[in-house]
Amino acid sequence: MLNNSIRVRATASVANVSCGFDCIGYAITKPGDIVTIEKQDPPGIEISMSGIKYESIPVYPENNTAGKAILSLLDTLGSKQGFKVHIEKGIPPGSGIGSSSASAAAAVVGVNELLNKPLKNSELLVHGMAGEAVASGGFHADNIAPALFGGIILIRSYEPLDILNLPVPKKLFSTAVLPDFIVNTLDARRMLPKWVPLKSAVEQAGNLAGFTLGLHESDFDLLGRSMVDLFAEPFRAELIPGYPSVRQSAMDAGAIGCGISGSGPALFALSDSLKIAEHIGITMVGAFKKAGLKSIAYSTPIHTKPPEILD
Ligand code: HSE
Repeated sequence: MLNNSIRVRATASVANVSCGFDCIGYAITKPGDIVTIEKQDPPGIEISMSGIKYESIPVYPENNTAGKAILSLLDTLGSKQGFKVHIEKGIPPGSGIGSSSASAAAAVVGVNELLNKPLKNSELLVHGMAGEAVASGGFHADNIAPALFGGIILIRSYEPLDILNLPVPKKLFSTAVLPDFIVNTLDARRMLPKWVPLKSAVEQAGNLAGFTLGLHESDFDLLGRSMVDLFAEPFRAELIPGYPSVRQSAMDAGAIGCGISGSGPALFALSDSLKIAEHIGITMVGAFKKAGLKSIAYSTPIHTKPPEILD
C-alpha cells in the first residue's frame, strides 16, 4: 500500500570546486535538510519551515526552491495532487554549500516516491534545477546534481543535459567552513563578468581536465595543481573577509587545495584523511576568527548516495 507521507534527508554539496565553475560539484555527508511531505486533498502546495535560519526563506511555493521543484514535477506529470511540505533546515541558507538544492532534492525525491515513482531519479534533475533557479536566478546544476545523485558530478553539457559521475578516490575528504554571514547566490552571480579572456579560458580548461584525470588516477598532487579558479574567485574573494589568510591556513594545515565553495561565503578544502580534514577545519575556523568572523567547520567524506528516505 502506498504511504501518504514521507521524510527524506538530502545533504549539502560543494560546487565549482575551484576549476569547475557551474560544472563540477560533490556531495558531503553533513549537514543536511530533512523534508517531510504529506499528501493532502486540496490541490496546491503548503510549505512550513523550521531549523537553522529558516526565517529568511519564502514559504510561497513559487518562490521556495522545494516548492518550485515540486510544482515543476507535478506540471510535467499533469498531476493535481496537493501536498503539505515541512522543511527542516540543517544547512544554513546563503552559506555556499547548496542549502536550497538540498531542500529541492529531498522534495522531488519525496514527491516522486509518494506518487509511486513515475520518474527515474535522473529525470528529477530538471525539476530540482527549476527549484534551484528560484534561489540563484541561473539554471545551474552543480549543487542539485550532487545532492540528487551523490558523489562527484561533472555537468559536461547543459543543452542537452549531460551529467557524468566522476570517480571518488577512497582517501579523498572534504572540509567546508561556513562563516556566519549570508551571500545571496543571485548577487554573487551578477557580479561575474559575462566574458572571460581567452587565456583564462584555456587555463581553466586545462585545470578542469587535470582535475578529472586526478580523480581517475587518485593523483592528489595533480588535483591540487588543478584547483585554480580564474572565473569566479577573482571577483568573489572580496566578499569574504580574510579570504587569502583563511585559504593559506588550510594549505599550511595540509590541504590538497582550497577555494570558495559555490558562491560562498563558505570555503572548502580537500585532503587525504579525515584527521587532516578535521585539523584543516579547526585551523580555518581560527583564521576566520582572526578576521573577526565566527564560523563552523564540517569535515566529512564525500557523500556517495542519493537522498535518504528516513520513513
Ligand atoms: N556554480 C554556482 C555559482 C554555484 O558559483 O554561482 C552556486 O552555489
